[in-house]
Parts: sequence; structure tokens; C-alpha cells
Amino acid sequence: MTEVANIIEVNAIFKHFRTKAENISVINDVSFNVLSGESVTILGESGCGKTTLLSLIAGLDRPDQGDVIWNGLNIKCLSDNKLAIRRSKFLGFIFQDFCLINEISVLANVLLPSMLAKKDICSAKSRAHELLKSLGISSKFNSLPNLLSGGERQRVAIARAMINNPAVIVADEPTGNLDEKTGASIMKMILDLCDSDRISLVLVTHNNRFAAMTDRVYKLSDGSLARVG
Ligand SMILES: Nc1ncnc2c1ncn2[C@@H]1O[C@H](COP(=O)(O)OP(=O)(O)OP(=O)(O)O)[C@@H](O)[C@H]1O
Ligand SMILES: [Mg+2]
Repeated sequence: MTEVANIIEVNAIFKHFRTKAENISVINDVSFNVLSGESVTILGESGCGKTTLLSLIAGLDRPDQGDVIWNGLNIKCLSDNKLAIRRSKFLGFIFQDFCLINEISVLANVLLPSMLAKKDICSAKSRAHELLKSLGISSKFNSLPNLLSGGERQRVAIARAMINNPAVIVADEPTGNLDEKTGASIMKMILDLCDSDRISLVLVTHNNRFAAMTDRVYKLSDGSLARVG
């Protein structure tokens, strides 16, 4: 039997924030792993630290202590520049508030990670068109993002996260701003794309029905992560 590798390992990480008023311990000794091709949900109340945890997993922020390991590589060893380049190839991040650039077209937004990863522009463009088509927004490739609906913007964010064929997608409440029906169709698109390309998924959602569609479910509470499904 072949052993399935950990695509992500998080070992005993801690993160606190110091503000003028207080010192908040947000992530407190969290460890978990994601297998290659596996989907994992993180649930938790607003403000409990879900976005913080995803940012640490994605190397957008660094833990105070502990290790984040991407496919065997401890990202502690990488400079910020090297980490950004490695991230663009390894992982796609779907942000809670889309984070699209409104001054450039949908296509240019989707292509951004491929430019950072120095991918061949012709194959990146054809992949972008393919993704926009499979997400049902191919006619919008030349539009500016702020002229799109919320659901359309979310699909652009998904295409951008998928453009470099990453090993992992990290999705922070990708259906949070959408009605139930649009949210369900976006969720299905993410799961189908991950499934067909064997991409691992780390999902944050408040929706238990979407959580149940993933392989494992964790709850973050008081800085600790516990498996609940
Ligand atoms: N850069 C920062 N500086 C200070 N405090 C921060 C910072 N980032 C997050 N926090 C605090 O850390 C806590 C967790 O925030 P986080 O955004 O991770 O929560 P969340 O679980 O994603 O919430 P939501 O479900 O509302 O998106 C909050 O109390 C927040 O105010
Ligand atoms: Mg959040």
C-alpha cells in the first residue's frame, strides 16, 4: 500500500497580537496536518482566529513559535521574497473579501500569480480562459472586477487561486458574502476543481452543510483546534 504524504504539517504553532489596549493570544499550540488530495474544514466563531490560522498556514504571516511545513519544506527557512515565490507555485489563497485589484481586468487579476511564479504567459492565458470558462464567467474576462456581482467576483478569486495548478487551496469563507444558492454552487465548483486536479483544500466556513462535504472538520476555539468531524 502506498502511503499518502502530508502536503501541509502544522506543528505546535502560537500567534499573539499586541495592540495598545491588550495582548491577545489568538493561536495557542495548534498542530494538524493535511494529506495530499484531502479537504479539511475549520469552523469557529467570528473573531476566534480562523483567518489568522489560514494566514500562518499560507505563509502570509509567521507564527511566534512552531513550524509550518509545505510538502516537507519548513517555511521558516525561507526569506520573505523566496516564500512569496514558493507560495505562488504551491498554494492558492481565496481571501474572505476577494482581494481583487479593481483597476485591472478580470484576466489580468487571474494571471497575477502566474507572473509572480514566472510561468509561460501563453500557457497561463490559456489556463486562465479554461478556468473562467469552467467557472461560467468566460464572457467577463475583459471586465473590471468592481463591475461584477459578488458571486462573479468570488469566481474570479477562485480562478486566480487555481491558475498555477497549486497543490493546496486555502479558502477563507469563500461563500460568506453570497446567498445560499450561489454559495452552494460556488462551493461545488471549488470542490469539483480540487477533486479533478487532486488539490488539497483548507476551508473556513460557517456553513455546516459545506463542512460536511469535506473529509475532516475541526473547530477552533480559545486558540485551540479540536477535531469535530
Ligand atoms: N494584525 C492584527 N493586529 C491585532 N489584532 C489582530 C490582527 N489580526 C487579527 N487580530 C485579532 O485576532 C483575533 C482573530 O482575528 P481573525 O481575523 O483571525 O478572526 P476570524 O476567526 O477570522 O473572524 P471572522 O469569522 O470574523 O472572519 C481578533 O480578535 C482580531 O481582532
Ligand atoms: Mg476571518
